[in-house]
Amino acid sequence: MQLGRPDVPRPTLSAREKARRLLEQALGPSKVVTGEDACATFARDESEAEGVTPDAVVLAESADDILAALRVAREAEVPITPRAGGTGRTGGAVPVAGGIVLSTSGMKSIKELDRRDGVAVVEPGVVLADLHAAVEAEGWFYPPDPNSLADCCLGGNVAENAGGPRALKYGVTRDWVLGMDAFLIGGQRIRAGRRTTKGVTGYDVAGLLVGSEGTLAVFGDITLGLMPKPEQVMTLMVLFDSVRAASTAVETAISGGLLPRCIEFLDGMTLDAMRRAGNAIDARAGAMLLVEFDGDEHACERDAERFGGVADSAGALEVLVAQDAGLRARLWSARREMSRAVRKLTKFKLSEDVVVPRRSIGALLDHVTLLGEREKVRHLTYGHGGDGNLHVNFLWDDAEEMPAVSRAIEGLFHEVVRLGGTLSGEHGIGVLKAPYLPLEQAPELIELERDLKRVFDPQNLLNPGKIFPAGAHRAC
Ligand code: LAC
Ligand code: ZN
Repeated sequence: MQLGRPDVPRPTLSAREKARRLLEQALGPSKVVTGEDACATFARDESEAEGVTPDAVVLAESADDILAALRVAREAEVPITPRAGGTGRTGGAVPVAGGIVLSTSGMKSIKELDRRDGVAVVEPGVVLADLHAAVEAEGWFYPPDPNSLADCCLGGNVAENAGGPRALKYGVTRDWVLGMDAFLIGGQRIRAGRRTTKGVTGYDVAGLLVGSEGTLAVFGDITLGLMPKPEQVMTLMVLFDSVRAASTAVETAISGGLLPRCIEFLDGMTLDAMRRAGNAIDARAGAMLLVEFDGDEHACERDAERFGGVADSAGALEVLVAQDAGLRARLWSARREMSRAVRKLTKFKLSEDVVVPRRSIGALLDHVTLLGEREKVRHLTYGHGGDGNLHVNFLWDDAEEMPAVSRAIEGLFHEVVRLGGTLSGEHGIGVLKAPYLPLEQAPELIELERDLKRVFDPQNLLNPGKIFPAGAHRAC
């Protein structure tokens, strides 16, 4: 099966050999991997995008190493693809045209944790869970929490503008990035953004680089804003007989003034998968919400009670307050591992991360059921219900089903756009969604984005084959 292989030419043999020679001269053998098997471990991310083994991998340890790798890519005219944790979901770190993978996962230092101003400066290879632990030990809080937090790195989080459950209340990675050192393919080292909470000087270049999916720059030190750690957290698990009832509860709660830090949503098929994995879930339940409030103890209790009332009115079967830390941890671990658990249920899966306005969650899920029936494709949906960001998963076992899956995905994206939504809430476009970009964005906007890409990377060497539909890159 070939998924999302864009139309980008591979470098010539002599260009590849030149790149390897220059890399070894510039960085020495300990930081340059050229063996086929070792390079193959950098071929994929955590998506279904087809892997491509790079010709060489640079294990960067410093800003100078990053600059050296970029210089070689420029001189040998080979593509270079930045990579941090490799946990992306759309093929962003897949070196689709071969060439060099520039791994910053070895740059793991939390360089600064400013206890007075609430600012952290981190290298791109810092694992998110390690940052959370370090920051919380100081009484501070870094809210973004993509579910791969035990493995994903800050460099990738910033490149993809990662979200996560707590985005409902606290926003996504972009909302917490104050600035960064960025290295351009032309050899420039720029300091974009700021260190203060506020700052509107010039264009928001840091904001542009966040979410640019490794196509505009490679990140060095990243400066993040922090907030004081909330005093208390309260978690509720609410069961409903239908997704419609659950979606009504979400809409009513938020429009009525409640703002949990997360409202995670799981549909009936997802609950079935959890039951099959050994979780005891009421057989009547056709949807679940995992709701979490934070703040002071009194506010958490009051808001949880109000949410319980809203859920009851929407017809909840059960509202359970996770009193002890053990239950809370079990609920979250089941949710955070969901994507990897679903992978075990099926030979192939594609997990989308579409977003629709909250009031349209029910309508979208009805449409997914329709598409599944029409194309005879299995599906399940879970995600960040509070912000309408749903992981619609299509599952299949036989490569021959791929055309039906493609039709279902295209039908899904059409409906998302029709409902006023967007193709990606947190995973980016990468290679998997690149063919569908024109469904959401007008040609003038795509052309402007391609112009920006040309300004940063006129030879189209930095992570080519991403974001733009096939064909668009050649002209870059
Ligand atoms: C999640 C990832 C897949 O929410 O975004 O589980
Ligand atoms: Zn998610």
